[in-house]
Amino acid sequence: MNAGPARLPQSHVTLEYCRELGVELQVFTNQNANAYIYHESSAALAGKPMRWRTAKADVYGYISELLAKATDQGALDARLTAQDKERLIAFLQSFGAIKGKADGYAYTGTDRRGYSVEPGAAFDDGTVLGPVPTLSDVIASGVGQRFAFEFGYDQAMLMFQPVGGMDAIPYALAKAIGQNRITYGAKALEVKDLPDGAEVTYKDAGGRTRTRRADFVVAAMPPMVMARLKHNLGTDITAALKYAVPTPVGKIGLEYRSRWWETDEHIYGGITPTDTDLATIWYPSYGHQGRRGTLIGYYHFGADAVAYSDLPHAQRLARAVSRGVKIHGDKYRTELDHSFSVAWHRTPHIEAGWVDWPSQTGPEYKLLNRPAGHVYFAGDWLSHVIAWQHGAFTSARKVVTDIHERVMAA
Ligand code: PHE
Repeated sequence: MNAGPARLPQSHVTLEYCRELGVELQVFTNQNANAYIYHESSAALAGKPMRWRTAKADVYGYISELLAKATDQGALDARLTAQDKERLIAFLQSFGAIKGKADGYAYTGTDRRGYSVEPGAAFDDGTVLGPVPTLSDVIASGVGQRFAFEFGYDQAMLMFQPVGGMDAIPYALAKAIGQNRITYGAKALEVKDLPDGAEVTYKDAGGRTRTRRADFVVAAMPPMVMARLKHNLGTDITAALKYAVPTPVGKIGLEYRSRWWETDEHIYGGITPTDTDLATIWYPSYGHQGRRGTLIGYYHFGADAVAYSDLPHAQRLARAVSRGVKIHGDKYRTELDHSFSVAWHRTPHIEAGWVDWPSQTGPEYKLLNRPAGHVYFAGDWLSHVIAWQHGAFTSARKVVTDIHERVMAA
């Protein structure tokens, strides 16, 4: 279970660090045609998990039918030449698997929906999943609104995860930097800018208060945590740090005695989005065909994360499982072995999953991207790739470059 960061896009510099540090990667399955979309509050088809492939077949099919009809009937003649129309209809027939002109370009369902009886040997041609819901119900179900997730620049497949867990990255970094250069368990108490340097006072792992001096300090803690630290950097800095809005985030890991989602439901990785307070259920992207496995039973932000984090773990678990049973049936409860939940906004020294800025063009963000004397700030929160390690890496590089240039110019 990656309780925190869990997926790495191909474009992120994080992958380059993994290569350089020798952190082995495996595919993270962010999208799976066999995972479900589960809407229980929609105006139609509510409470019935629908496979992504089925949802796409129906939505693409009906949209294609409508557009082909409108095109053919001349509704778009102001926009399309005769040849455009022909080519557009050819595209829609491929995209939506719709019927031809003689059948009014109707969408009537195809094997893209999936099968209720799988095809097999000899004359066994299978049974296509049915019945096909009406156009009106498909639109009212809202399933089409889920598709945009995978269009997102940083959520599109392929994605990756380190083998053995996301913490392989910090462990490899620590090894490359040298353990002896890192002080663990140090709770920062005060940061002081000095005429020719800066110093940090902290409580060490043994409870002793210590002060260390350096030419520069890079403060990489979350802004709302930093805002409460004693410092002499000025009230503008404190106000700017407080301007960032922490996002509550929660996750639960559910470890099962069997991989029923693979054996019974043919789901090998991927995500089921829901309109429940779980937000999403994630199936593991590794260990396929093994004996056991761990799902992410919820990964949610904001109000849902707060509602769950207000409960003790046992109640978080009971609530999450009661939702999951509606999608996957009783085995969601009966096969469960262990569980673990985390509420990042309640985790000391972190206090959020990430932060949002009301504005990244205002004076607050600008101020924190400049040094306060000999003190610099860094973190994903000082980037345009917030809530990704890429943001933290690029921010760190920027600050290191700034310090380098300052020292070289001095
Ligand atoms: N990087 C996190 C994730 O992929 C948080 C995030 C969610 C960031 C959605 C951007 C968009 O879950």
